[in-house]
Amino acid sequence: MKKLIDLNLEGKRVLLRVDFNVPLDQDNNVTDDTRIQASLPTIKLLKEKGAKIIILAHFGRPKGLVNLEFSLQPVRAHLEKMLDESVVFIQDVLQDTAVDQSLSLQNGQIALCENIRFYPGEEKGNPEFAVQLAKLGDIYVNDAFGAAHREHASTAVVAKHFVGNSFFGLLMDGEVAALDKIFSEGQSPVTAVVGGAKVSSKIDILKNLMPKVDNIIIGGGMAYTFLLAKGGKIGNSLVEADKTDLALEILEEAIKNNVEIHLPVDSKNAATFSNAAISEITTADAVSDGFMGLDIGPKTIELYSEVLGASKTILWNGPMGVFEFENFSEGTKAIGKAIGKASKSGAFSLVGGGDSVAAVKQFGLEDEVSYVSTGGGAMLEYLEGKVLPGIAAIRNQS
Ligand code: 3PG
Repeated sequence: MKKLIDLNLEGKRVLLRVDFNVPLDQDNNVTDDTRIQASLPTIKLLKEKGAKIIILAHFGRPKGLVNLEFSLQPVRAHLEKMLDESVVFIQDVLQDTAVDQSLSLQNGQIALCENIRFYPGEEKGNPEFAVQLAKLGDIYVNDAFGAAHREHASTAVVAKHFVGNSFFGLLMDGEVAALDKIFSEGQSPVTAVVGGAKVSSKIDILKNLMPKVDNIIIGGGMAYTFLLAKGGKIGNSLVEADKTDLALEILEEAIKNNVEIHLPVDSKNAATFSNAAISEITTADAVSDGFMGLDIGPKTIELYSEVLGASKTILWNGPMGVFEFENFSEGTKAIGKAIGKASKSGAFSLVGGGDSVAAVKQFGLEDEVSYVSTGGGAMLEYLEGKVLPGIAAIRNQS
């Protein structure tokens, strides 16, 4: 497959799809620009190559309507500061003036189009709308891993108009390479750390991982459904009582697949759902009446850290407890550190999907792990074994 890096792009218009879906504060300041930072290498490469860069991005969920609350203007201002240059704004991609604007860019100059979700055709993947978008570029580059699970006009459908001229950006390449290092090239022992509140939201991930890993470490609220299924006493812990059969099924499947499932052996419990709550540490299957498990306990931390220390490939998705409460953050922090330590000794580690990425950032462990994904929902769907349309649209052409 030909790579972006190999192309001569001097004077070519590159239609670049990125994920600039970043959080803003009340004054429209970007509060976490990780995703913008992550697309800068591609933007800079295109600039160096003398391309005219036309950026497509979405922001929030304006549901196909123009709603200035969801304008990309604040993101444009942030991007201008980061690049220390002005960025042309294309107000309406459906106007002929948009094509004129794209053509009149200088080589290396950047234009950002207004929120692509202001158009109903975007989320519907409307082919006519994709035709309009295609008029803005000679080459299509998709660097929006965070939106790769959406089969939208700008993330997937538009690629049809660039057969032989569609490429992954550097971020997308990096994300795919990191996932391959886990799933196709992963050195054994491969360990998946899966946490989060509910078994039901992670069931497809657990099933999909089963044939691919040696260990599954379970933490977070979902652990208590497993513990209940095994006959444990879990007090007021978060539980999906109707999912205990499913939990047992997973445990059986693990035996068949020769996968070791690690469940907490002790638990840090709280009398109420608050940081300041009275707490206790018990064995994980003997939470006191009236208490709820909010974190894994010290023995579990030790055991899980040992498993991670012996692993060569590690995937982390989901926290071990309510890490937003300082008093119940120890488990998540310790597991993050153990993954960092294993990575230092040569293991490959990938952290992906919403909460665990937030935890890695909160504990300043970004540089300790091998790769932090920019994908939230996209990463989850990939881990569930689904084909991501944004990736398929380009891969299937080559
Ligand atoms: C995300 O923030 O996960 C992506 O940008 C996708 O956004 P969406 O869930 O609104 O499609």
